[in-house]
Amino acid sequence: METVYLNGHYVPAEEARISVFDRGFLFSDSVYEVIPFYQGVGFRLDEHLQRLEHSLRALRIELDFDWASMLSRLVMLNGNGNLSVYLQVTRGSADKRVHAIDPKMVPTIFACCQPIRDIYQEGIERVEGIKVIVTADLRWHRCDIKSTCLLPNILVLQQAKEAGAQEALLLRDGALTEGASCNFFIVERGVIYTPPIGTEILSGTTRALILELADQNGIPRQETDIDYQRLINADEVWISSSTRAIVPVLQVDDYVVGGGLKGPVWQRMFEIFTRYQHQLMTGE
Ligand code: PDD
Repeated sequence: METVYLNGHYVPAEEARISVFDRGFLFSDSVYEVIPFYQGVGFRLDEHLQRLEHSLRALRIELDFDWASMLSRLVMLNGNGNLSVYLQVTRGSADKRVHAIDPKMVPTIFACCQPIRDIYQEGIERVEGIKVIVTADLRWHRCDIKSTCLLPNILVLQQAKEAGAQEALLLRDGALTEGASCNFFIVERGVIYTPPIGTEILSGTTRALILELADQNGIPRQETDIDYQRLINADEVWISSSTRAIVPVLQVDDYVVGGGLKGPVWQRMFEIFTRYQHQLMTGE
């Protein structure tokens, strides 16, 4: 039976209860993280926790909490396998629905696990390229906060599904920002490009790792704005996230990209990335 963490207790999922006045439920007044664990070891855990602190600071939720201990205990109670941990912190609940923040509220802390694929074990052949659509970015201007207010993301993902695609890339003022739940990259003549960090995108932990690994391996890379024409004419397009690592995009709307094949720079980065993951997890 799945064990979840809620406000100091490790309990079976169906026993966990929160108030109907919780502001996460009423207002999406809450933030979250999704953190992969492989064989019980957190992947880029510090980076996820730093981003969580950034999100909490932005909402002015003050908390002194040992995230790492709670997460490792939860993962252990769920069998220490390959799991992605969902962690959500809400501002807490008052005794009625009022917009104004009551400083006495105690934040709600919730975490649960679900199985995640280990791409190192599965290998490069098993990775399937995807199709994406491009649509308007209707989100607010603080996408650097990992807020649970995901309605625009959910609606564009549904739009993608209805178009036979697996992701939606978002366009704001002529520049692509990111995906519904991922960052993205293009490759042109061997150089990797991705949009710069700012308030219009989430600072992805996988994105940061790809740039770090590119630097360490002498693969040129640059952070720059990317428009639709560059996207569809790129040699390669990839998306990245904690749960999917790096996935090649083979079609954008009606355009086949990169000849419809998983590109050579993606293959190289995938191998570097999975080797890094394996070394980190096993020390080998
Ligand atoms: N989403 N951009 C958005 C809007 C995201 O929701 C995510 C991740 C990313 C990639 O961030 P990272 O590499 O740190 O996972 C970028 C998670 C996986 C989710 O919502 O489930």
